[in-house]
Amino acid sequence: MVIYLEGEVDEEIRLDEMTPRQIVAELDKHVVGQRNAKRAVAIALRNRIRRQKLPPEMAVDVMPKNMIMIGSTGVGKTEIARRLARMSNSPFLKVEASKFTEVGYVGRDVESMIRDLTEIAVDMIRQEKIDEVAEKAELNVEEQILDLLLPPPRASSNLYEFDPSAGDQQPSQLETKESTRDEQFQRTREKLRAQLRDGKLDNRLVEVEIRERNFPVIELAGPQGVEEMGINMKDMLGSMFQGRTKNRKMTVDEAIEHLMAEEEERLIDMDQVARAAIERVEQSGIIFLDEIDKIAGRESGHGPDVSREGVQRDILPIVEGTTVNSRYGMVRTDHILFIAAGAFHVSKPADLIPELQGRFPIRVELESLTVDDFKRILTEPKNALIKQYQAMMATEEVNIDFTEDAIDSIANFAARVNENTENIGARRLQTIMEKLLEEISFEGPDLEPKDQRIDAAYVDSMLAETVKDQDLSRYIL
Ligand SMILES: Nc1ncnc2c1ncn2[C@@H]1O[C@H](COP(=O)(O)OP(=O)(O)OP(=O)(O)O)[C@@H](O)[C@H]1O
Ligand SMILES: [Mg+2]
Repeated sequence: MVIYLEGEVDEEIRLDEMTPRQIVAELDKHVVGQRNAKRAVAIALRNRIRRQKLPPEMAVDVMPKNMIMIGSTGVGKTEIARRLARMSNSPFLKVEASKFTEVGYVGRDVESMIRDLTEIAVDMIRQEKIDEVAEKAELNVEEQILDLLLPPPRASSNLYEFDPSAGDQQPSQLETKESTRDEQFQRTREKLRAQLRDGKLDNRLVEVEIRERNFPVIELAGPQGVEEMGINMKDMLGSMFQGRTKNRKMTVDEAIEHLMAEEEERLIDMDQVARAAIERVEQSGIIFLDEIDKIAGRESGHGPDVSREGVQRDILPIVEGTTVNSRYGMVRTDHILFIAAGAFHVSKPADLIPELQGRFPIRVELESLTVDDFKRILTEPKNALIKQYQAMMATEEVNIDFTEDAIDSIANFAARVNENTENIGARRLQTIMEKLLEEISFEGPDLEPKDQRIDAAYVDSMLAETVKDQDLSRYIL
């Protein structure tokens, strides 16, 4: 049995290898409660791994179990998505469905989300390849930098071969002038190498030959026009100007960075990256469609907004499975997993067009947050609010200590304001905390004493007045 220690999980296992239980455990570190939603997400993700292990003739027929997360505002829907995205080694895109109804997106087809997802996959795979070649690239760059720092003598043949034993030795008996010069050169080079590795030469200036990359910025067409053609104008223009070179002075530090980028580009086969990226999008891409309730409703929108039903109809083929043209090639969307989320305050999932409803067979509801949840949200998650404020003030040597009854009191105030004004879920904690710590945040470095203790009485003194006055709390909290 493998035991994963806390804190290691982030780096050690990746979403694709995680069991549903592990996925939930990972989400638990950041999102309080919402057990059902976490479980549903975990199952959907795991099913994709299961599918990939099936014989191909069966795998093609297993459709992703798309789901809708329903829950009022501020209860953790987007937070779950954000956390998934961070732990995911699948291409993951979060997009607001409502943006497709906005003015200005008219005509910007929803297919752009598949293109964006493909871009993400390309970056991801490119990064993986960069990691693979990093060591080699570093060695190559080191040689290049040494060449710049100490230009090799003419007619020297053994430039890159170096005899480690030659390092610290006294000059040996010299046979020819030529070899002495070579040896001396080699020794100096190795000394420089050692200094370079120690970072002692970082600020030295060197002259580097760089390929001209600048080109006049001309807006050639609207974003969708260029996208449609499947070409990236920047890349195209970039390669047109690539022939030119010029010398530029920079520090060793900058030169390393610059040469590394060039080396990586040289060592990586972008065609291969593109193919792998498309494969990964098709097999394990995830799209999180946030704010889906904003496009529910069948009546067509008034004014310049694109009709909501129209957007649903545009989304439908993508969710059902179609082929989208990207600049890296055709992408099939059949097995991309869609997780939708919405508050559904006004509209209901039943207001989505029937075809779309059918493509989201799994529904999970997120629970409203209780006072108890608030207490936990304040303190438990990895970067919980209280911890954030403590860390921020600690940068100015101020230590804030919260007593337990202070936390109780903050949670209670938050729940009360949510009840009396509008229920904005855990977001209320942020406004409350901001108000609570206003004084301390302002005084900051001038604060005396440096150890501040926040107890229920302090919370009361800072908040009670505002909370009591409904009009005031409407504006301030
Ligand atoms: N269950 C929870 N556990 C921890 N933090 C939470 C939880 N619910 C909400 N939060 C915090 O509250 C804030 C808002 O949450 P989130 O963005 O997930 O809301 P939402 O459910 O997507 O709401 P909306 O419908 O308005 O988009 C975030 O900062 C998040 O960290
Ligand atoms: Mg949200």
